[in-house]
Amino acid sequence: MPVVQIQNLWVNYGDEPVLMGVDLSIMPGEFVFLLGKTGSGKSTLLKTLYGGLSVADGEVRVAGFDLRKLKFKGKPKLRREIGMVFQDFKLLYDRSIYDNMEFVLRATGWRKKKLIAARIQEVLDGVGLATKMDRLPNQLSGGEQQKAVIARALLNHPQLIIADEPTGNLDPETSLEILQLIKDVAAKENTAVLFATHDMALLECLSAKVVRCVDGRLV
Ligand SMILES: Nc1ncnc2c1ncn2[C@@H]1O[C@H](COP(=O)(O)OP(=O)(O)O)[C@@H](O)[C@H]1O
Ligand SMILES: [Mg+2]
Repeated sequence: MPVVQIQNLWVNYGDEPVLMGVDLSIMPGEFVFLLGKTGSGKSTLLKTLYGGLSVADGEVRVAGFDLRKLKFKGKPKLRREIGMVFQDFKLLYDRSIYDNMEFVLRATGWRKKKLIAARIQEVLDGVGLATKMDRLPNQLSGGEQQKAVIARALLNHPQLIIADEPTGNLDPETSLEILQLIKDVAAKENTAVLFATHDMALLECLSAKVVRCVDGRLV
């Protein structure tokens, strides 16, 4: 069963169609680049996948959820199956990396302190940040902050990671490191990845399926 199954998806902003008849299927563990220039509709597609925009027409299934039938109450359940990694890190800057992780776990129903500590240790080990868990986000480099965001995305063992230009603010070398890290951690847990970027150079760095977004259509 695909993790993402989209057929003839239409999404509007107001009366304006922004996605027009999009088809896409992503299998468990599959890594897919979503390539397209600014304004082509990449973020709109990713937002739709986590239930942030309503489906005007078509079929969208994500991690077993039918998005047309998903009620407000079902959204947290859907979002627990999706790890999100965005360009602007959106860490909580007033607390440590550890506390950022704990915040997410508690918000998603974790209660046992030992289990929480063990899972945080595990995800931070996975991205190489375990020794820096007591630091505030601002005491980390941009690349390290993005690694913390990746760790946070993994906390609840999502079926899908959606990455929206996660390397947009990073230098080329760090961008490549982040791309490779997302690919590696996802492969380890058989997590599917949809990685949006306008950066053609990144595509040359690893072999993966590429779908191209052009004016609200996938080609
Ligand atoms: N909140 C919004 N309201 C109206 N139009 C929007 C909104 N967000 C994006 N758009 C428009 O939708 C189109 C696709 O945008 P977006 O999905 O953000 O593209 P990308 O992520 O590829 O840069 C653009 O024409 C953009 O101007
Ligand atoms: Mg975008």
